[in-house]
Amino acid sequence: MTNLWSGRFEGAPDAEVFEFGKSLPVDKRLIDDDLTGSRAWAQALAKAGVLTPADAEAIVSGLDGVRAAVHADPALLDRAGDEDVHAFVERELVARIGDAGKRLHTGRSRNEQVSVDFRLYLRRRIPVLQRAVVSVVDAMVAQAGRAGQATMPSYTHLRRAQPVLVAHVWLSHAAALRRDWDRFEAARQEADLMPLGSGAIAGTSYPIDTAFLARTLGFSRVTLNSIDTSGDRDFVASFLYACAMCMTRLSRLAEDLILFTSEEFGFFELADEVATGSSLMPQKKNPDPLELVRGKAGRAIGVLSGWLATMKGLPLGYNKDLQEDKALAFGAEDDLAGCLMTCAAVVRTLTPRVAVMRAAASGLLLATEVADYLVGRGMPFRTAHEVSGKIARDLHESGRDFSSLGLADWQRYHELFDDKVFAAITPEAAVAARLTPQSTGPGPVAAALAETRQWVQAH
Ligand code: ARG
Repeated sequence: MTNLWSGRFEGAPDAEVFEFGKSLPVDKRLIDDDLTGSRAWAQALAKAGVLTPADAEAIVSGLDGVRAAVHADPALLDRAGDEDVHAFVERELVARIGDAGKRLHTGRSRNEQVSVDFRLYLRRRIPVLQRAVVSVVDAMVAQAGRAGQATMPSYTHLRRAQPVLVAHVWLSHAAALRRDWDRFEAARQEADLMPLGSGAIAGTSYPIDTAFLARTLGFSRVTLNSIDTSGDRDFVASFLYACAMCMTRLSRLAEDLILFTSEEFGFFELADEVATGSSLMPQKKNPDPLELVRGKAGRAIGVLSGWLATMKGLPLGYNKDLQEDKALAFGAEDDLAGCLMTCAAVVRTLTPRVAVMRAAASGLLLATEVADYLVGRGMPFRTAHEVSGKIARDLHESGRDFSSLGLADWQRYHELFDDKVFAAITPEAAVAARLTPQSTGPGPVAAALAETRQWVQAH
């Protein structure tokens, strides 16, 4: 059992309580970042004249030695009994280079050290999640391209609303995922502040060049206030928010795909490799991976609200409660990575059932087109809505749709109907009539697809 603060204490800590407080099993993930931050700190101490060049050199090569040892044998961290990753590094360093190693922590606190480590970690790990978001968008772009002019119903209130291009539906999910990418970018920028120089809470009495540290560690700014820095984990909350939002997104995507691949909808066929069977019912093909995505979203939301609850009652400055952030963030990161990978695999391998979707897009949801048809012939929209609604009600009652009406039937409802009505009241005509850039019209969707492809290329 090793710790960094034994001087003030007479006896050894209670073994079980020490074990309870240990964060090494979790924060060992920060090992590379801790070594990176410590290396820069040694250089800053040398620059400030606190360390001799020889000691600084010994520390830097000692830290590089620790890095090499850990990379060669990652289980080294599991065998160690240290309180946290910072204590591990210092002990390993001293074991390698002796007294010079004991000078590394001069003017520095673990409070700022864990902050710099976690900021470095998020800055290099967020782009990995962002690339996984791009992979899902890429799979959607492929499906959108493959869909061509195929139509399907769109839904509001989960009731058939209007015909849309299948490609338009894929691009709608893609548009939302692009917001998630942006949200991660914002979280990455929030982590992009260099906290060293804050000390434990009051700052550092050595003339540390914080701009040099920021440059060396690749940060674009230095934090503003040592007290704030000591207890600030807003950047963790922002990361968890980005994760929770993206998981919420994937959950809605999963729900759509669970519905659309069901017997009831039958719009897409789930690939065998991303489905599971039932131990009892031989006919079943279950969307378990998608259900897990939907289920894990609940946890991501819980992690965010749990972390906000942890922060809300804390007095200013560092409190040990903050140590809980890492287990939450690492868990959210791992869950999201798994869900993004799964969603990309499911979307990539879906088979569209074009005829089923077109049939579903051809029923009474063409009623808006009927109203627009009358508006095009001079009728006020509100009146046209009435007429079309009356036709739809009659058809619904007799279990038919617009395609069952002959010209005489149409004209019995209104004399403005002529033989152009047959070509106008189809899913294809409905889609073709949509003109604005956000629309499901073939022109706007082709442009949106090209723009989304470019986005994928650029990210
Ligand atoms: N393991 C701690 C954490 O994650 C590191 C900071 C410890 N600071 C302290 N004063 N005990 O928050």
